[in-house]
Amino acid sequence: MSRSLSPRATAAAPRWPGRLRSLAFGGDYNPEQWPEDVWVEDVRLMREAGVSMVSVGIFSWALLEPTEGEYDFAWLDRVLELLHDAGILVDLATPTAAPPAWFSRAYPESLPVTAEGVTLGIGARESFCPSSVDYRRAAVRIASALADRYSDHPALALWHVHNEYGAHVGPCYCTASTQAFRGWLRERYGTLDALNDAWGTSFWGQSYGDWEEITAPRRAPMPVNPAQQLDFRRFSSAEYLECYRLERDVLRELSPDVPVTTNFMATACPHIDYWHWADEVDVVTNDHYLIAEDPENHVHLAMTADLCRGLARGRSWLLLEHSTGAVNWQPRNLAKAPGEMRRNSLAHVARGSDGAMFFQWRASRSGAEKFHSAMLPHAGTDSRIWREVVELGADVGALAELQGTRVRADVAIVWDWEAWWGLELEFLPTVDLDYQERIRAYYETLWHGKVAVDFVSRDADLSGYRLVVAPSLYIVPGPVTRNLTEYVEGGGRLVVSFFSGLVDESDTIPPGPHPGGLRDLLGITIEEFHPLAAGDRVGVDGGLRADVWSERVVLRGATALRRFVDGPDAGEPAVTRHDVGAGSAWYVATRLDRHGLADVLEPALAGVEPLDVPAEVEGVRREGYLFLINHGDAEAVVAASGHDLLEGSEHDGEVAIPAGGVRVLRT
Ligand code: GAL
Repeated sequence: MSRSLSPRATAAAPRWPGRLRSLAFGGDYNPEQWPEDVWVEDVRLMREAGVSMVSVGIFSWALLEPTEGEYDFAWLDRVLELLHDAGILVDLATPTAAPPAWFSRAYPESLPVTAEGVTLGIGARESFCPSSVDYRRAAVRIASALADRYSDHPALALWHVHNEYGAHVGPCYCTASTQAFRGWLRERYGTLDALNDAWGTSFWGQSYGDWEEITAPRRAPMPVNPAQQLDFRRFSSAEYLECYRLERDVLRELSPDVPVTTNFMATACPHIDYWHWADEVDVVTNDHYLIAEDPENHVHLAMTADLCRGLARGRSWLLLEHSTGAVNWQPRNLAKAPGEMRRNSLAHVARGSDGAMFFQWRASRSGAEKFHSAMLPHAGTDSRIWREVVELGADVGALAELQGTRVRADVAIVWDWEAWWGLELEFLPTVDLDYQERIRAYYETLWHGKVAVDFVSRDADLSGYRLVVAPSLYIVPGPVTRNLTEYVEGGGRLVVSFFSGLVDESDTIPPGPHPGGLRDLLGITIEEFHPLAAGDRVGVDGGLRADVWSERVVLRGATALRRFVDGPDAGEPAVTRHDVGAGSAWYVATRLDRHGLADVLEPALAGVEPLDVPAEVEGVRREGYLFLINHGDAEAVVAASGHDLLEGSEHDGEVAIPAGGVRVLRT
């Protein structure tokens, strides 16, 4: 049986675009939406703004291959030449996220199908099934044609395969996908007996006697077998990965010196398990968009950037898209305040991005994204956004020496796409379980505590961390139990939250009391879950408040650090600690608010040095450099010394950061 654990941190060395001698600054460039005289102006303005690289051709398949097998590269030749003449590098995309209308007409079976059996139409983008052999063949063909033509082009710095795999379709439930799923299952389980056993198909009489009986988990009268659903999500992520690999391999063959990437949506795509993708790209790249109405969206930004660094195994990565101002797809698309774009961009750089790029260069006049902000807005160059873009270009230019430097942290949070999938299954003890909510609660607590955080996979080497936090780590297969146990025995501190360690990778509860995957390590068992009614809260020793979850924890070697003061488990353990080997494993049996989490984490953080900066200042150390980002509306003062790369000034002992401002010190 093949395992679905994430690959360990054994990545090959990343390959940064060798032609890029500075940090990347630029954005998606869609010249095909404009007449040629505009291109000349574009390139002139790109130079004015300090643009070093643009992503070209992302959705231009229909223009590059107007009919099957017939190509028109003339316009792209001229675009690349113009950019090259201006010294601007190109992140050249394969356009396979937007199959042309002729393709969908010729191969209607390539259209994606939803769980309800609805075939999705065309006229937008992403209308393809990742298992379609026709799609894969056509995608590889256009990628090869591009590589044939441009692999030696002097402007080519990076290949950009596709765009955000799995973004808006996710799993496809068509006939081809179903067939491919059966093949994937055969490989994983070998025999039907093994599959029936892993899926527990004796429940509700679901046993399969023939591989052909197995379907994609389409909408059914009741929840489809959860193990089948988890496998289908693993399969779907793997199918998209295979599409990426097919394109990447032809690009690598034809241009071995040019690195290849595909842009991730690290915290925003539930359909892709990026731990399995991270080592397949030469550079981890990511797209991040603020949720405009979230007052703590800068903390979410920091979390996403830290996750990207985790995917890059601690090395630098690249922010390939974010926005200069409002997006167009949220309920209320609030504009960014003056200075906010700069803080956002530099916060990504602080956390390991070797550049700051945008969607998109010039605002579109037509189409679904015409109200999306751009580097060059509809208002033109006499606009606040343009002025800020030009200033940011100078800032990013001044940070060139940071390329490749690292961020280090003593604390890690385990991020696990499978746990996220598990918490999205039906028929759980409460509908209030939310994977990202818990991850974010712990992350925000540490962010506000000024503690640097890495994100790691559940089977990563944890030995370098003083503290590892595993929120809602629902699925804990045997090797993960061993990994966490080894970490604690070796002297690590592990904090696990409720609803963790409950099932194995087949969504099966190990024999005996919960949490089967972690009970020995945590030194507890759980006798009964007591989820709370909507809006109900419980108290925990020390004046802490919690909601959503309570449970009857039985001590089996652990000691109770705090107890519930009321609710269904009044007087019973709420936070426990179990000393194991040279370390300790802690358990938090309820959903504490941030204040409560800060209290509980404080002793677990012993020996971890927080950065000494005021509450509204985000401070990040990037190997030899200190970023200070003031999110407040008053000047803040920090004790630090060094040369400010943005202002060119020297600071000896004290740095004042203006309201909303940023300082980057070489320390
Ligand atoms: C991204 C996508 C871009 C554009 C952008 C709008 O997810 O890659 O092509 O659609 O969203 O915010």
